[in-house]
Amino acid sequence: MNREAFPLQLRAEWAAFAASRGLGVWEAWYAPYDKSVYNFVLERLAPDDVVLDIGAGDFRFALAAAARARKVYAVEVHPHLVADFLSRAGERLPPNLLVVCANALDLPIPSDVTTGVLLVRHTVHFHDFFERLRAAGARRLFTNARWHLAVEEVDLQAPRVCFDSAPPGWYACACGAVGFKEPGSPDFEIADEIHEVVQCPHCRVQKEQTV
Ligand SMILES: C[S@@+](CC[C@H](N)C(=O)[O-])C[C@H]1O[C@@H](n2cnc3c(N)ncnc32)[C@H](O)[C@@H]1O
Repeated sequence: MNREAFPLQLRAEWAAFAASRGLGVWEAWYAPYDKSVYNFVLERLAPDDVVLDIGAGDFRFALAAAARARKVYAVEVHPHLVADFLSRAGERLPPNLLVVCANALDLPIPSDVTTGVLLVRHTVHFHDFFERLRAAGARRLFTNARWHLAVEEVDLQAPRVCFDSAPPGWYACACGAVGFKEPGSPDFEIADEIHEVVQCPHCRVQKEQTV
C-alpha cells in the first residue's frame, strides 16, 4: 500500500504523538460518531450557550454547534486534523468558532463556558474535565465517555450523594465510572433514575492504588 494512503492513525507517528501529549493511543484516536450523537447535543443547545468542544476531531460537530450557539471553543490536539479543517474552512470559518490546537488538559477553561462537550468515548480523563468545567462554572456536560455508547447530558452543578448513601440501582460517578448498586433485598424496587454519585467503589480502588 502507498504509505500516503495508509491511515494516519495506524502509523507509528500517531501513537508517538499521542504519547508526547500525555494521551493514550485510544483516546487520541480520531473517528466520527453517528449523526444521532451530534443531533442529541445540537437539539439541546441554546442561542446564548458558550460551548467548549473537547477533542473536536475534524470539527464537524463544532461547525454545526457554531451555527446554534453564541460561541464555540473547539480544542483538538492533533495538528493534522486542525490544519486540514482550517484549510477546508478558509475564509468561511465562522467568527464565533475559536479553534485551538492543544491538549485540552493544558488549557484553562474560559470563564464564559456554559456547556462542555466531550465526545471522546475512550478518554481516561473524564474526571479531570468534569472537575475543571464544574470549577469554571459551566452548567452541563454532554458526553459519551461514561456510558461509552450513549450520549448523556450531565448537570455539572447538581449535588451528588456519596455512593454509600445512594439508593440501590444504576449510578454514574463524577470520576467517570458507572455501575449498578445491588439492593440488599430482592423485593427492593429499582427506580429508572440514574443516581449521580461521588466516592464510588472505582474511586476507592484508584485511591488505594495511589497511596
Ligand atoms: C473519537 S474522536 C471524536 C471527535 C469529535 N469529538 C467528534 O465527535 O466528531 C476523538 C478526538 O479527540 C481528540 N482528543 C482526545 N483527547 C484530547 C485532549 N485531551 N485534548 C484535545 N483533543 C483530544 C483526538 O485527537 C480525536 O481527534
